[in-house]
Amino acid sequence: MSENVARLVDLAPETVSFRDAVLHGLSRTPKSIPPMYFYDEPGARLFEEICRLPEYYPTRAETAILKTNAADIAARIGPEAHLIEYGSGATEKVRPLLDALQDPVAYTPVDISAEQLAAAASDLAASYPDIEVTGIIADYSRPFTLPPPRRRPARTRAALFLGSTIGNFGPAEALAFLQQAARRLSDGGLLLIGADLRKDPNRLHAAYNDSAGVTARFNLNLLTRINRELDGNFDLAAFDHYAFYDPVPGRIEMHLVSRRTQRVSVAGKTFSFGEGESLHTENSYKFTVEGFRTLARRAGFTPEAVWLDDDNLFSLHLLRAT
Ligand code: AVI
Repeated sequence: MSENVARLVDLAPETVSFRDAVLHGLSRTPKSIPPMYFYDEPGARLFEEICRLPEYYPTRAETAILKTNAADIAARIGPEAHLIEYGSGATEKVRPLLDALQDPVAYTPVDISAEQLAAAASDLAASYPDIEVTGIIADYSRPFTLPPPRRRPARTRAALFLGSTIGNFGPAEALAFLQQAARRLSDGGLLLIGADLRKDPNRLHAAYNDSAGVTARFNLNLLTRINRELDGNFDLAAFDHYAFYDPVPGRIEMHLVSRRTQRVSVAGKTFSFGEGESLHTENSYKFTVEGFRTLARRAGFTPEAVWLDDDNLFSLHLLRAT
């Protein structure tokens, strides 16, 4: 029998370069850089470490929801499905679902990072010889056309957006992302999406201020990346990781705060930081079940089902595009 090999399709995503995003972000007041730039190779590895931390519950909670409810989710998706995954990080999460689905036709992970995508796609192809695996190199927050399966047609389409990555978008971006997903799935397709829940602020605070300091290293790695890729001279010891939960918008904010007045040079340009000045690196919005359903309805979805973990920390929603 011939080996099942994953295909890669490069949709040549047009991206703002890391350089432009950093120079623009450091020129603004307040200074900020979008969280997508955390994920160079060391950053992706640090994020995997975060997912295993005792304080960082979202990954464990979502994996438990997927494992416990795989049969129910699979029955609702139906046989001969084409699964599309936005982001290709955690292939362990999609496995229980692929195992539970009746005769799945294809699995299509979509990611901007070609290396991570290739690894995830070939991993899955090797484990599931009957599933057509096609990795799509694209920016899933922008419009793109999804190629249909080649080997045989699918009866249904279901997209996955796991990990509460939707929470790293601002409210307007989250709505725009969901509207685009609804349009792409407009033939009655499904979206299975993870959303971290609002809860005790102390629990949230601990998840982004772990005692081993991995989240701090993840945050500071952005400066290491700037130093390496953009000829920067950030002194990592001169910045503190600072993360807190604001219960009014319901979001974690992550910052790198300057310990002193200093000048930093990046790509030949100089930027000044005052003592206590912040470089804002991430927001991570938390939702209520009803709040998330309202957002989904506004974007053109009908909520079909929601599952929570035993401790009500995390929610997994099944939405139908209308
Ligand atoms: C990827 N994303 C959902 C994570 C989050 O929780 O917002 C990224 C992260 N930042 C710090 N810890 C984890």
